[in-house]
This record gives sequence, structure tokens and C-alpha cells, in this order.
Amino acid sequence: MHILLTGGAGYIGSHTIIELDKAGHSVYVVDNLSNSNPEALRRVAKIIGKEVPFVEADVRDRKAMDALFEANRFDAVIHFAGLKSVGESVAMPLEYYENNMNATFVLLDVMRRHNCKNIIFSSSATVYGEPAVIPITEECPKGHCTNPYGQTKSMLEEVLMDLQRADKAWNVVLLRYFNPIGAHPVGTIGENPNGIPNNLMPYITQTAVGMRKELGVFGDDYDTPDGTGVRDYIHVCDLASGHVAALQAIQKNCGLAIYNLGTGHGYSVLDVVKAFIKVNGVDVPYVIKPRRPGDIATCYCNPAKAKAELGWEAKYGIEEMCRDSWNWQKRNPKGY
Ligand code: NAD
Ligand code: WQD
Repeated sequence: MHILLTGGAGYIGSHTIIELDKAGHSVYVVDNLSNSNPEALRRVAKIIGKEVPFVEADVRDRKAMDALFEANRFDAVIHFAGLKSVGESVAMPLEYYENNMNATFVLLDVMRRHNCKNIIFSSSATVYGEPAVIPITEECPKGHCTNPYGQTKSMLEEVLMDLQRADKAWNVVLLRYFNPIGAHPVGTIGENPNGIPNNLMPYITQTAVGMRKELGVFGDDYDTPDGTGVRDYIHVCDLASGHVAALQAIQKNCGLAIYNLGTGHGYSVLDVVKAFIKVNGVDVPYVIKPRRPGDIATCYCNPAKAKAELGWEAKYGIEEMCRDSWNWQKRNPKGY
């Protein structure tokens, strides 16, 4: 299939290009580079041994998107483009709502006018809010999102579901990612956060490499085995291959389909820190800090539906995730 990746220069998109190429799909990337570096695409090109067709454009730019669809016949779109920092979204709600909602509205309208009605949407475990059941299945009701970022994911899921309900020609796959970490094992591409990282793994790797003094562990009094927050970390290459599997659902005219993409295993903050230290033989100094507002104690999924219906399951374990995150960081201490 010929696939358009919006936001394809970013962390998950760049890894997904490789898996799509391996599976024999051709790709085209549109990205405004607001949170990414074109060097990522040059490095992906080296890995796959061919150029990655790319246009620098904003998905909200209707003219640019129209031109792209005029010039290409896309079979499906994987819609990664969006702003994703939870903390920033609380400080800049209007920018987050405007970017994430409008980019999707423009994209969907352009897609339907060019009769491309197959879309995979990057959703998030955040839509479950404080989960009603653990492990979380896709039937688990959506919850209250405590931040504008999460709200955009939840609202865009509704928009996509309404669209598919109204026009059955659409195939819509909502992929709810859990906590992607790791990097491609070659170590030339990876997560490249701007400024001080919000997420756990980049904070760990930047501490290990000496850029940060110590990791703050946000709370050790949760109702979890060691008191620290438990999450479902998934290797970004596994997440990437989940998109290839989702394309098979689209090829079978799935209509609306929703999948959790996680491993089904929960690891605490201290489990991750200990695994990282053990696998990589480097120190990660840490101090216990107060809870971070908006955090929940435990979040991990039941990934059985994706296995049963897509034949997809995560292959990498926590040790490989820690190994590959460190491999990327130590080879690229300043990112791209
Ligand atoms: P990322 O920031 O690395 O990639 C997103 C890309 O979208 C960036 O390259 C950015 O420049 C681009 N972009 C943003 N707004 C755009 C616009 N209006 N037009 C064109 N390009 C635009 O983030 P990521 O981690 O690769 O995440 C990809 C998607 O997955 C996002 O939608 C994110 O919300 C979602 N997601 C991420 C995580 C995570 O923990 N990384 C978890 C769940 C869901
Ligand atoms: C993981 C655990 C923290 C940093 C976020 C978004 C979610 C999704 C994935 C996009 C928690 C603890 C963290 C630190 C710490 N993104 N932690 N010290 O919050 O589960 O999910 O990213 O959709 O929407 O909310 O991920 O990596 O920030 O935190 O102790 O410096 O690590 O408290 O328990 P989170 P995270």
C-alpha cells in the first residue's frame, strides 16, 4: 500500500517508516518539523537504503494537503501529527486544541475529497483516564482526561467514530498506545525531546549520560507493589509493527476498530530504573519526590484483542527497551 504518514519525522513515525518498508509498503511523510528534525528522516533513509519522500508542511494547511493528495494516490493515512506534551498542554490549552483538532479536521476533509477513506489514528491510553479495570481492555469505558492533550485524543476518537458511523466507506483504526520507549537497535534514531524531558525514560537516559543530576521519582506512596507508579512500557519498534498489523485490518475493510498497543506487563518506576542499571551497567542516581499532579497509580493493558484479530504482539521485553534507549542516548548525547 502507499501510505501517508503525518508527523512521520517524529519519534514513533520515524520508527514506523522502517517497519512499513520491511513489510513492502511505500511511504510519504508530511511534517511541519515543529517537534522533529529532518535528520531523523536522513537516518531512516540510511537504515532502509532508500530516500524517504517528504514534504515540510503543516497538516492544517489545506492548500498544501490538497496539493499532496492531488500529486499522490494514497491508500491509507497514519495520522501521527500532533502536539503531545501533557504539561505544555495544561499551560497552552488553546494551542493544543487548535493544532490537534484542526489538523485532523483538515486532514479528514482532504482525505474524503480525494476518496481516501482509510485512517490509522495515534490515540493513547490516556483516554481511559483513571482506568475502571486493570488490565485495561478496549471495552473499558473511557475516563476523564485531566489535561487538554488527553482531551484532544478522546475528542478526536469521537470525531473519527462519528465519521465512520455516517459513512461506512471509512475504515478507522484507533490505536491506543501505552508507554513507548526504546529506539531502533542500530542506535541512530530515537526519542529527541526538547528541553527537560517530561517522560520517564528520556529523563533516565539523560541522567545516566550526565546531562541531569538525578532522576526525581514522582511518589512512592501509591497502592502498587513498591509504591511507585506502574506503566505498560512498549518498545517503539513493537509499536511501529502494530501499525503494519493495523493496515491488514484496513485491507479487510474493518470499519471501526480499536486496539490497545501495549505488552500487558506493568513495571514500576523503580523496576525500570533497576532494569536500566542492570542491563547497561551505568548508574542512575534518583531521589523520591512528591507525586506529580494528574498521575495515576497503575496503567497496563490486556493486549489480547490485537493478538487475536491482528496477529500482533509485542516481542521486546523491558531489558531490551532499556538497552536500546541507552544505545541511542549514548551514541547521540545531544540528540540529532
Ligand atoms: P513526536 O512529537 O515525536 O511526533 C509528532 C510529529 O508531528 C512531530 O514530528 C511534529 O513535528 C509533527 N506535527 C505536530 N503538529 C503538526 C502539524 N500541525 N502538521 C504537521 N506536523 C505536525 O511524537 P510521537 O511520540 O512520535 O507521537 C506520535 C503520535 O502518537 C502523537 O499524535 C502522539 O500524541 C501520539 N502518542 C504518543 C505517545 C508517546 O508517549 N510518545 C503515547 C500515546 C500517543
Ligand atoms: C511514567 C511514570 C511518572 C518522569 C505520558 C502521557 C500519556 C502518554 C505517555 C502520550 C509515572 C513517573 C516520570 C520522571 C517519574 N503520552 N516519572 N519521574 O505519565 O504514564 O504517560 O506519556 O499520549 O498520555 O501522560 O508517562 O513517562 O511521564 O511517566 O517518576 O521524571 O514515571 O510519575 O509513574 P505517563 P511518563
